[in-house]
Amino acid sequence: SQPSILSGKKVLLTAGPTREAIDPVRYITNHSSGKMGYALATAAAKAGAEVTLISGPTNLPDPKGVTTVRINTALEMQAAVMERVDESDVFIGSAAVADYRPASVAEQKIKKTQDKDDMTIELVKNPDIIAGVAGCTNKPFTVGFAAETNDVAQYAQSKLERKNLDMIVANDVSRKDIGFNSDQNEVTVFWPNGHQALPNLAKGTLAETLISLIEKRLSETTQ
Ligand code: PMT
Repeated sequence: SQPSILSGKKVLLTAGPTREAIDPVRYITNHSSGKMGYALATAAAKAGAEVTLISGPTNLPDPKGVTTVRINTALEMQAAVMERVDESDVFIGSAAVADYRPASVAEQKIKKTQDKDDMTIELVKNPDIIAGVAGCTNKPFTVGFAAETNDVAQYAQSKLERKNLDMIVANDVSRKDIGFNSDQNEVTVFWPNGHQALPNLAKGTLAETLISLIEKRLSETTQ
């Protein structure tokens, strides 16, 4: 068989959720399990790439043949990515990065008060990690994900343009059978001049299909 265009190339990926502390015992997070990103890391390694996975907290073991770096917060994920982006040929952002974090982290556990029935946590925006990657002078081939509950195609295409991505993988996270935390996913992939809808697949099979699509787009765009 043909040697893969990814053979010997450096692939950097993010996976899983981020965890944004409120105080020493509480945090804000989401339902990402890391399964999609870990499957992509495994598929990229199988294609011969040198793979580094920046992972939020998950219950999954480190994928075989992949350098795995564990972080908790979006700011830690950004630092781990930016440290390695210059030498990367491909970046895949499958992590569900928290868009906001608590404006300050209480040093001590926040106590329940007797006199008030409501409380407010002020949030500030986290940096957009993938937009930072796509803005680098030495920009790797940059693949994002779009997790949407409505108008999936439209939002995905606008993210592709706004974040200056080379490809975006759109999934409908309003469905319980696919996306967050399930073993299956059904996505449509968009790139600047085209798109392809893929059937409902096990995340392992889907990851291999996505890696093949990336290889195809890479060989078309880097002659
Ligand atoms: O982990 P699993 O349980 O297997 O579930 C997989 C998944 C549903 C998490 C995955 O398929 C997925 O859709 N990942 C992206 C989730 C997401 O946060 O999407 P978004 O539409 O909010 O973000 C768009 C893109 O920007 C993503 O590539 C995201 O990684 C990136 N982003 C977002 C915010 C931010 N501050 N920095 C980023 O880099």
